[in-house]
Amino acid sequence: MIRTRWIAVTICCSITIGTFWLTTACSQINSNQSEGGTAPAPQGQQENSKTAPQSVKPATSSDPYQAELKPLTSDQCGQCHPGVFQKIKEKGERHRFECQKCHQQFHSYNPQKQNWADIMPQCGSCHKEPPHGKAFTACLECHKDPHMPLNIAMDKNLVASCGTCHTTPQGQLTKFPSAHSKQGCTTCHTGHGMIPSCLECHTAHIPDQPLDSCKSCHPVHMPKEIKYDTSAASNTTCGSCHGVVFKEWSGTSSLHGKVACAECHDQHGKIPDCRQCHTAPHDGNLLQKYPKCLDCHINVHDLPIKKK
Ligand code: HEC
Ligand code: HEC
Ligand code: HEC
Ligand code: HEC
Ligand code: HEC
Ligand code: HEC
Ligand code: HEC
Ligand code: HEC
Ligand code: HEC
Ligand code: HEC
Ligand code: HEC
Ligand code: HEC
Repeated sequence: MIRTRWIAVTICCSITIGTFWLTTACSQINSNQSEGGTAPAPQGQQENSKTAPQSVKPATSSDPYQAELKPLTSDQCGQCHPGVFQKIKEKGERHRFECQKCHQQFHSYNPQKQNWADIMPQCGSCHKEPPHGKAFTACLECHKDPHMPLNIAMDKNLVASCGTCHTTPQGQLTKFPSAHSKQGCTTCHTGHGMIPSCLECHTAHIPDQPLDSCKSCHPVHMPKEIKYDTSAASNTTCGSCHGVVFKEWSGTSSLHGKVACAECHDQHGKIPDCRQCHTAPHDGNLLQKYPKCLDCHINVHDLPIKKK
């Protein structure tokens, strides 16, 4: 593949380069001719003209070999390799530096010698330590185009290794089985690094529930391990499932109606001890006789109180 393309392009390029030189040479001759008559001669030439015979044209100013050779700049490479140039310009990320920092040798591919791999830059010459460990040394399998190093395809190579690089999500999905453990990583992450919205697959518990709140209660790779910040969890969210309790609590005239659900239930499903908040409400004898507070206080969500 590379071979035939290379030959074709080489021929093509020889023609192009040939044409380029012809065109340049012609315009050079043309401009010399027109200069000869009217235009004032440049400094160096005037000095020479004192000694040199009029008929002999001094070669100095038009001498094509006078210039100091400089290495090709990246934009000069880009004139012949516009595709590569454009890729680096747009998606080169931190590879957006001079071509020759990587390509210390080039234009030396020899189809006979099949030396492509030898002349191409080696990732390891700059990335001394393999960044993902010893299991991942075939860099170009994933970073398919070094000119766009972060353009990574979601192919078999990558999908087979998600969990090797991302041990935490993998570990959580395994250790805390949930319906999410049955989904493959790529059911949710359809592109590498892409983060899906919960609302693509679920409806919220209550209208207008912010997306960020979902993650604060459900760590996504172990969604049943519910954790919440007691001051942030909203009563209406709890109420969306515990309708009966919510109705009692929101209708009560006792002071417990001012205490948020999550302040008492600081973990989902946990029943608090009254003495967490009421250290010594009655004298010890009474409590010894009647150890259960709710024998007298009846309903914690709607305490019977003296109506004033
Ligand atoms: C970060 C290092 C790096 C930089 C910077 C870089 N290259 Fe490359 N380039 C490579 C590697 C590695 C390969 C070999 C890829 C392969 O074998 O698939 C390559 C391959 C190529 C090829 C042949 C394959 C192709 O994609 O057409 C050309 C042409 C090329 N580079 C030109 C350039 C030019 C021009 C620039 C600057 C505008 C440049 N490169 C900058 C690393 C680099
Ligand atoms: C005058 C046009 C021209 C310029 C300027 C040019 N190249 Fe090339 N380059 C070619 C052609 C033609 C090929 C062969 C066909 C191909 O692979 O695209 C080639 C091939 C390559 C290759 C792959 C094959 C090999 O032998 O290395 C690399 C890498 C490369 N060029 C890098 C560069 C870099 C880096 C620069 C600037 C320092 C540069 N080129 C400047 C025309 C040019
Ligand atoms: C001439 C040195 C050089 C070579 C050769 C080179 N890189 Fe890099 N690469 C860098 C530098 C410098 C950075 C930015 C700093 C860093 O992340 O270490 C970088 C960054 C990267 C990044 C992260 C890009 C970003 O924007 O976050 C990837 C991916 C990468 N290189 C892959 C490769 C692969 C794959 C190869 C071989 C095909 C390669 N590099 C060859 C110098 C090089
Ligand atoms: C199995 C696929 C795979 C292989 C093989 C692989 N990489 Fe990566 N690499 C990735 C992915 C995926 C990223 C994350 C890209 C992102 O941030 O979007 C990455 C990121 C990087 C980065 C960015 C810095 C970082 O760690 O955050 C560098 C540098 C890099 N790779 C270099 C290399 C080099 C050098 C090799 C070969 C020794 C290599 N990679 C092999 C998939 C791979
Ligand atoms: C070779 C190692 C490697 C492989 C394989 C890999 N990743 Fe990554 N991934 C990275 C690196 C490096 C980053 C960027 C640094 C970071 O945030 O950890 C990244 C970033 C991510 C992010 C974004 C993290 C954030 O905080 O925004 C997600 C999501 C992700 N990867 C998912 C996946 C999935 C899904 C797969 C499998 C299809 C996968 N990765 C395969 C190395 C890898
Ligand atoms: C049910 C959908 C779903 C599945 C399945 C899933 N993820 Fe995620 N993942 C997400 C969401 C949503 C986030 C964003 C979480 C956040 O912002 O807190 C995320 C975040 C991430 C992140 C970045 C944050 C972090 O926790 O490190 C990585 C890496 C990641 N997932 C990798 C994976 C891997 C690897 C797998 C498979 C083993 C996987 N995910 C399976 C939905 C999923
Ligand atoms: C790509 C689709 C997808 C995305 C994105 C997704 N989930 Fe799921 N989730 C599912 C499927 C499928 C199930 C199992 C069937 C169901 O309950 O709908 C599920 C189940 C759940 C369950 C119940 C777990 C169990 O084992 O019973 C919770 C909780 C959950 N998801 C929360 C979330 C949260 C929070 C997010 C965002 C951080 C999220 N999901 C993102 C697909 C998704
Ligand atoms: C205040 C905490 C909290 C917030 C915020 C929250 N959830 Fe939940 N979610 C729960 C609890 C508690 C359960 C019930 C768990 C059980 O069955 O044991 C649950 C269950 C689920 C389930 C399982 C199916 C069901 O309805 O029983 C899904 C799916 C789910 N939540 C998605 C979401 C999404 C999407 C969001 C954000 C819009 C969200 N959750 C926000 C606490 C919360
Ligand atoms: C998506 C529905 C859902 C949401 C939202 C929800 N729960 Fe639950 N809750 C349940 C289910 C289902 C159970 C029973 C299964 C279990 O124990 O996990 C339960 C159990 C409980 C229990 C234990 C009941 C008992 O009999 O022991 C308490 C207390 C509780 N929830 C309080 C809350 C609070 C407080 C909130 C808000 C922060 C909340 N729940 C949000 C569904 C939900
Ligand atoms: C998270 C803390 C907390 C827990 C747990 C708690 N309470 Fe309260 N309770 C309060 C607060 C706050 C008040 C308001 C008056 C005050 O500051 O003492 C109150 C008030 C009361 C009152 C007076 C009601 C009124 O309206 O005048 C009674 C009776 C009471 N609690 C009984 C109980 C019983 C019985 C339990 C256990 C079943 C319990 N409480 C658990 C915080 C709590
Ligand atoms: C003052 C503390 C307190 C507040 C506020 C509170 N609870 Fe409770 N909750 C309790 C206690 C104590 C129990 C155990 C009652 C028992 O043993 O009969 C309980 C029991 C429950 C139960 C299981 C028994 C049942 O009645 O179904 C659920 C569900 C529940 N609470 C949900 C909620 C919700 C939802 C809210 C907010 C709307 C809330 N709680 C507010 C202290 C509280
Ligand atoms: C034998 C019945 C009985 C038992 C058992 C009982 N209480 Fe009471 N409690 C009462 C009565 C009666 C009042 C006064 C009611 C009023 O003034 O409205 C009261 C008042 C209270 C008050 C309000 C005090 C105030 O200053 O307004 C709190 C708080 C309280 N009890 C908490 C508890 C807790 C916690 C327990 C369990 C450790 C408990 N009670 C057990 C009967 C009981």
